[in-house]
Amino acid sequence: MTFKKTADTLIKGAHTLDRDYYTSKKILSQEYENIFFNHWICAGRESELSKAGQYKIINIGSESIIILKNHNNKIRSHYNLCRHRGTRICEKPNGKFSKSIQCGYHGWVYSLDGNLIGSPHMDTIQNFNKTDYGLHPVPLQVWEGFIFINLSENPTDFKKSFAPIIGRFKQWNISELYTFEKKIYKVKGNWKLVIQNYCECYHCPILHPDLAAIHNYMSGKNDLFEGAFLGGYMEFNKNKNSITESGELCCPILPGITNENENRVYYYSIFPNMLLSLHPEYVMFHTVWPEGNNRCIVECSWLFNKHIISSNKYQPQDAVKFWDMTNKQDWHISELSQLGIQSKMYSPSPYSGQESLLAAFDKYYLSIMN
Ligand code: FES
Ligand SMILES: [Fe+2]
Repeated sequence: MTFKKTADTLIKGAHTLDRDYYTSKKILSQEYENIFFNHWICAGRESELSKAGQYKIINIGSESIIILKNHNNKIRSHYNLCRHRGTRICEKPNGKFSKSIQCGYHGWVYSLDGNLIGSPHMDTIQNFNKTDYGLHPVPLQVWEGFIFINLSENPTDFKKSFAPIIGRFKQWNISELYTFEKKIYKVKGNWKLVIQNYCECYHCPILHPDLAAIHNYMSGKNDLFEGAFLGGYMEFNKNKNSITESGELCCPILPGITNENENRVYYYSIFPNMLLSLHPEYVMFHTVWPEGNNRCIVECSWLFNKHIISSNKYQPQDAVKFWDMTNKQDWHISELSQLGIQSKMYSPSPYSGQESLLAAFDKYYLSIMN
């Protein structure tokens, strides 16, 4: 029987991870195998691909994936390698295919659904059958407008894996929200430092005085504190209504939000690479991508209702500006953490009671790594 926590308590004796988890190339390869090539990972928003043929590329370790919209307006994903001699097909991070996908080496052509539809001079080859050489498909799911892909040969059932959060964020109606802005950051730190930093506000009074003026790090409560999904809410201080430059709402509250949630921000980490922040009037999410053991790329997007984005009556940029500043503070301290952890003098140290989610993250992470 597995032990189920019923309250958010710090795991007894919990301490930070060993240095190798932040510095070792061997551990990074193991993370690709056990985590990134074996779990559902968030790969952005469906609405980023609005027209047939539009595509984006996800590069992760040795793998590269094409995510595109086909002619039936469905999102599809394929491994980004030609079935002839294995050449990577797309180099640019995004773009638009006209009608089909052509490899730039010998001109094999694939439909947007990945079927091989043209292979010059191959008709003279005995037993060569185009249907055997389509692009390798990648399992894909869309949840609340977010795209998830899974590089495992036997992916877990998405609905089962995500059961603890499916339906949980109904009030925000996230599938109806659109990207107002997206920023991409390069961080000189291990990807887990970004996730761990997000999972606590113990650092808020020191590192983010402006954020600490909006919510107190001791307010609120974690409501998911074990497993793949971790997080909870914080309450806004008196006279503060949202997380923006002014501390005021930057546009009207989303229509489904209850009174109780008008005064809260919810923060969740969704294993392994997604961070989801729900405000009364907008949603922000990050995706985190390892780039070697001591580097990562973080993408951050701000989602609003369509009519807010198209109107010039509101100030969604106030949310972007505030979080862009806060993000940079977080990335900088994560880079300093990476530098310190690399020292021969670093050794694991106890977590505080405000860092119970980090202990929970580490526990879940280690259970997958070992
Ligand atoms: S490698 Fe793609 S067509 Fe030859
Ligand atoms: Fe922070």
